[in-house]
Amino acid sequence: MTTLAEPAPAPLATPFTRPRSRRADRRRWQDGPTPASLADLVALTREVAAEVDAGRHPVEVDPAHRWSRRLHADDHLDVWLISWATDQAAELHDHGGSLGALTVVRGGLTEWRWTPGRDDDGDCVAEELPSRGPGLRRRVVDAGRSIAFGLGHVHDVANRARETAVSVHAYSPPLSAMSYYSVGGGVLRRTRSELVAPGESPE
Ligand SMILES: [Fe+2]
Repeated sequence: MTTLAEPAPAPLATPFTRPRSRRADRRRWQDGPTPASLADLVALTREVAAEVDAGRHPVEVDPAHRWSRRLHADDHLDVWLISWATDQAAELHDHGGSLGALTVVRGGLTEWRWTPGRDDDGDCVAEELPSRGPGLRRRVVDAGRSIAFGLGHVHDVANRARETAVSVHAYSPPLSAMSYYSVGGGVLRRTRSELVAPGESPE
């Protein structure tokens, strides 16, 4: 009997032996409990996004659920490739004790970010985000753009465009817990917290 195995993803050209920093060492550990800085994670996702764009990592699309593949994991960080069909979304969440960043490779993603004291959610329409409310700011991240998530960053991410979106995400330390939220009347409420098992899709 022949067993068919999934082809292994192409190895990353980018070396991941440890988080690298373009900053001086004295700047390490500044952004959170990791030697990687937010700038490192942005740079990393941009490098891997270029590899995806060059066809080094196959991308799949699942119309029923967000598709994701972990491209790398070590003690310091993990890197994910995610595809978002139209209207696929995460939900309002944080990243526990991890820093994160994403770069959009193709298409565009919309982010709603909890920004206390800011009521400029006027461009959110009701059907876009069930848990919307004052305090959520929206921004569109187009292909080639990146965003970073510091500690305490609470956001929702979705593909509201016709074209499938593809993004590369990095987390350091590797994502191990996430909390989920709702917003009402300008108040952020945590609805649940979950552990993230190693290898479990992050967004
Ligand atoms: Fe996130």
